[in-house]
Amino acid sequence: MAITPAQLTFEADGTPCSALYGDVYHTRCGGPAQARHVFLAGNNLPQRWQDQKRFVIMETGFGLGLNFLATWTAWQDDPQRCQQLSFISVEKHPVSVEDLAKAHAAWPEFAHLAAQLRQHWPPLETGTHRLLLAEGRLILDLIFGDALESLPMLDAQVNAFYLDGFAPDKNPELWSVPFFQMLAKLAAPGATLATWSVAGEVRRGLSEAGFKLEKRPGFAGKRQMLVGVY
Ligand SMILES: C[S@@+](CC[C@H](N)C(=O)[O-])C[C@H]1O[C@@H](n2cnc3c(N)ncnc32)[C@H](O)[C@@H]1O
Repeated sequence: MAITPAQLTFEADGTPCSALYGDVYHTRCGGPAQARHVFLAGNNLPQRWQDQKRFVIMETGFGLGLNFLATWTAWQDDPQRCQQLSFISVEKHPVSVEDLAKAHAAWPEFAHLAAQLRQHWPPLETGTHRLLLAEGRLILDLIFGDALESLPMLDAQVNAFYLDGFAPDKNPELWSVPFFQMLAKLAAPGATLATWSVAGEVRRGLSEAGFKLEKRPGFAGKRQMLVGVY
């Protein structure tokens, strides 16, 4: 499948937006803080990777790499970090390196790591691109292609899922029961998930796929978010 790159635009307040989906890449209330609240804390990270040999995170939708950069920072700053962190992320419409630079300019706290990510950024070609970072202790597998086509071919034991598609009404395939069942097949025992969406169809689909769910207080304007254990 040929890749159609993302079409990145910015709203008046600077929030990055996708012209293909008509949705924002992260909340208007602050991307880095949302990443830490929803995806890291929602999966009980950094605690769960501490003193482990290896820990595997899988994300649905790499986007601008915001969640990845927040995770890399937390891992790097943690003296008890796992020996190896594997971060697998699937992306149907990757962003050009020029657009990544525009988006990353909004997050000075990640400037140093974001520059490294852009240095390693692969060509926008279908398939898995493995980036070895932090002297090989951080492995980023960027899968460029449709998640529904790519995941069945993946061999992984995932400890934590970051569910971060666009809103379910704009991006329904990333919140569908068949997709959640693909995630369940990749779940290691005790795998957790976190997402900002508490939509009824998301909760029903995840439960059907075998995840036990719990609502927690959401970030900024959102009353609730969702976490789960497989
Ligand atoms: C909300 S954005 C992700 C933001 C990202 N996690 C970050 O930290 O910057 C959702 C992403 O899902 C991607 N996406 C949508 N449908 C997809 C599909 N079927 N397969 C893979 N990626 C998809 C979009 O292109 C977009 O980059």
